[in-house]
Amino acid sequence: MKGADAFKLFLGPTVPTLLVTVNEGQEIDHGEPPADVSRKLNAAPSSWVQKVSYDPPLVVLAQKPGNDTLRNLRRDPRFTMNVLSGEKMQRLLLCGQRPPYGESELLLPGVDLDPVVTHSTLGPVAVIDGAVQWAVCRALEFRPTGDHVLVIAEVERVFVDEVRLHRTGLYWNKKTFAWIGNKFEEEGY
Ligand SMILES: Cc1cc2nc3c(=O)[nH]c(=O)nc-3n(C[C@H](O)[C@H](O)[C@H](O)COP(=O)(O)O)c2cc1C
Repeated sequence: MKGADAFKLFLGPTVPTLLVTVNEGQEIDHGEPPADVSRKLNAAPSSWVQKVSYDPPLVVLAQKPGNDTLRNLRRDPRFTMNVLSGEKMQRLLLCGQRPPYGESELLLPGVDLDPVVTHSTLGPVAVIDGAVQWAVCRALEFRPTGDHVLVIAEVERVFVDEVRLHRTGLYWNKKTFAWIGNKFEEEGY
């Protein structure tokens, strides 16, 4: 395969993250029931994400111009990136549906992912309960690039569940790449 079709497959598949932003006019708070928090959030699967700097810790996202995620970030730069375990991947993919703006993907049938409110320098943000990895981020720059907009963001806080890390994709171990599937079997997860 060559050309545009090949480019669609090139470097893929990558592990999608779930980007969680706060919808316009909403404020979330510690102590609110998860369903009330969910109503105010936007959640979108995103594969085009990459670390691009250790110091300061930066990531880049590529977002389609019309995305609600982008709309939210331009107004309110706080967001979280969440990596879910393999069992929850199907539920993450369901968040790729596009309900009308303001209707949370987290409340779509079958999604069943709960938010947990945590802090960021810009106020409360939500991570996904049980996420294997998450990062609290702040969008710094927006650069229209090709048919997407690159969002450069600073990572304020990051969490990695070291044991369950191996369920989520390729991992770097002892100076080589290993495939999670093997690790799974070796360690009897
Ligand atoms: C696995 C997966 C990965 C995706 N990665 C991206 C991505 O990196 N950038 C993007 O703009 N859309 C991506 N999409 C599509 C968006 O998730 C989708 O268009 C979504 O409806 C956008 O949500 P939003 O409007 O709430 O931001 C992906 C979809 C899936 C299922």
